[in-house]
Amino acid sequence: EEESRNLRHGESLYNMVGRLGGDSSLSANGKKYAEALYEFIENREMIDGEKEFDRKQNDSTWSLNSKVEALRVFTSTLKRTLETAEKFEEDPEKYEISHIKFLNEIYAGAFEDMTYEEIKLKHPDEYLARQEQKLQYRYPGAGGESYLDVIERLRPVIIELERMRVDALVVTHQVVMRTLLAYFTGIPLCDVPKVKVPLHTLYCLQPKPYGADLHRYAYDP
Ligand code: G3H
Repeated sequence: EEESRNLRHGESLYNMVGRLGGDSSLSANGKKYAEALYEFIENREMIDGEKEFDRKQNDSTWSLNSKVEALRVFTSTLKRTLETAEKFEEDPEKYEISHIKFLNEIYAGAFEDMTYEEIKLKHPDEYLARQEQKLQYRYPGAGGESYLDVIERLRPVIIELERMRVDALVVTHQVVMRTLLAYFTGIPLCDVPKVKVPLHTLYCLQPKPYGADLHRYAYDP
């Protein structure tokens, strides 16, 4: 049975200061996470243990398919996901990597690079409109997207993930993760914007005839 492992990128510099969008690099913490992730996937022993990922939150009855032999790795085209998956590039025989623009974070249009505080201050009506209708709200400015826009552009990615016969590792962003988790675990559309997806957490989805098993691994340095 193929598995899909999904995660948000490591912490980025913009995450640290609460800025939206952009294309910043990983922070020092984010880089540590990227290394731990690679080790975790590469040596499945890590699963039983110990330091890198927090076992307390994990489901002890479950383990990854024995040693990873081949894995399709998908990232977005933004630096924070490329850097999170960088180590996998070193072994192209084992890890086939694709960079997919459809996996990019929701594009905040005119509000890219701003903080929520700045938006609230400079564009209070827009801020409120998004609070009230987060799913439908489309960011103003060229290319600005709504959750519904992102969900729409993810259709081909979901179809590809569903028909694949090998395991996949998806390194992506918060809104995309919310959508993928919601789709695979049956969370209703209206709740997609509320799904909790912390950074530095790996979600393993194992599709079943009906629905999917979900296991969560939180990185605990
Ligand atoms: O940069 C975008 C954020 O990940 C989106 O989060 O939809 O909860 O505002 P939000």
